[in-house]
Amino acid sequence: MSKLNIVILAAGIGKRMQSSLPKVLHCLAGKPLLVHVLSTARKLSPDKICIVYGYNGEDVQKAITDHDIIWVKQSEQLGTGHALMQALPFLDDDASTLVLFGDVPLVKIETLRNLLIVSSNNLCALLTANMDNPYGYGRIIRSQEASKVIAIVEEKDASQAQKKVCEINTGVMLLPNKYLQDWLPKLENNNQQHEYYLTDLISFAVENKVSIATERPINTWEILGVNSKVQLAKLERIYQNNYAEKLLEQGVGLADPERIDIRGNLLCGQDVMIDVGCIFEGKVILGDHVIVKANCILKDMTVGSGTTIAPFSLLEDSEVGENCRIGPYARIRPGTKLASKVHVGNFVELKNSSVAFGSKANHLSYIGDSIIGKNVNIGAGTITCNYDGVNKHQTIIEDNVFIGSDTQLVAPVKVTAGTTIGAGSTITRNTPPGQLSLSRSKQVSIAGWMRPTKNKV
Ligand code: UD1
Ligand code: CA
Repeated sequence: MSKLNIVILAAGIGKRMQSSLPKVLHCLAGKPLLVHVLSTARKLSPDKICIVYGYNGEDVQKAITDHDIIWVKQSEQLGTGHALMQALPFLDDDASTLVLFGDVPLVKIETLRNLLIVSSNNLCALLTANMDNPYGYGRIIRSQEASKVIAIVEEKDASQAQKKVCEINTGVMLLPNKYLQDWLPKLENNNQQHEYYLTDLISFAVENKVSIATERPINTWEILGVNSKVQLAKLERIYQNNYAEKLLEQGVGLADPERIDIRGNLLCGQDVMIDVGCIFEGKVILGDHVIVKANCILKDMTVGSGTTIAPFSLLEDSEVGENCRIGPYARIRPGTKLASKVHVGNFVELKNSSVAFGSKANHLSYIGDSIIGKNVNIGAGTITCNYDGVNKHQTIIEDNVFIGSDTQLVAPVKVTAGTTIGAGSTITRNTPPGQLSLSRSKQVSIAGWMRPTKNKV
């Protein structure tokens, strides 16, 4: 294969988004549109990737952390042809350039590979698609005899007859750089929008008898662009439906494929069941037989086989072992590591803590910066007081400890193996092993005490 350069056009303001954020930074499935295009581009292993940026360009550059991008500034947005023109000095003489749009995020690598196949080094190639409603797109005009592409006409410049053409320009095209060098400087802006149209390059190709190959996308939705929030929402649904379908094909059980959102990667073992309303962000790995019930959010999580996560639980950046029971209404914050058979019940919050085999915190607790041993029972309402207003401190609870309800453990503190703590205690010092420790005043009863009565007005 000859040398490949890729130019991603991303300088447009995106007026119809009605937002101060550059269009290409709006998110689809949790990632900026431009990031989707860029990661597809990378899969082709091009020799160079240029991004043409303009409106709020610094924000765009900040959002992309890849170091090998050639950033090309287009100070004034004078059209797609003008945008590519800015990249011209950075392109290799002996390469071909694939043009991608930063606002067309769903285009698949297989489709791009097909486009590369139909073009050879001295051929131009266009990705075109047939649309039931071609409104807004550039129309592909073909010669009547040979059905060869002879022009692309933009909606605003099209005649009534041309508007009826359903074959449209997706914007994805591949051209040898030697032609770009020759033709781009010759573009003019005498059209309805007074823009330098990339699409006018086709007329130069026709003039110079350079043949133009065309290829179709594998799926029509791949070429849909984002110009408004309405379109962004539609593309999000397409993306999510595709992901859900892929999961179903892999054997993952989904209560309703239309009510799951994946904003990253979800990797599932066998016989995983996911109920409605769940959101998966970042990288989430679910082991065999994991059940995620309704309305849970999991972000950057690993969950071991056989674990059930009950409704309305929020888990982030942590590891949950095998056969655990989490939730309902559990909150697992970053840095938590649960071994197997751990139970975390309703309104229990864990942060930066490890919990060993078989331990349970079933109701209303906060466990932060703690190390918890095996078979520990943490009573309802137990709180680790990990923060003194300035610094965080650690709580250690060793194996087989029983902590009575409504206990405060004032860190740094260690509850040694086998300790029992009486309910309602405030523990400020390390406990001796195997004993009952408690701190509470004795219960008193006052005979003859009267309840207050309501004041008369
Ligand atoms: C463009 C095509 C049209 C095609 C459609 C497909 C042209 C003239 N028209 O129209 O044939 O059917 O895409 O979606 O090419 N951009 C810049 N600098 C500019 C202008 C645009 O970088 O000066 C970038 C935008 O950020 C965007 C892309 O180019 O990523 C497309 O621009 P847009 O204005 O959306 O073009 P369309 O009118 O949709
Ligand atoms: Ca567009």
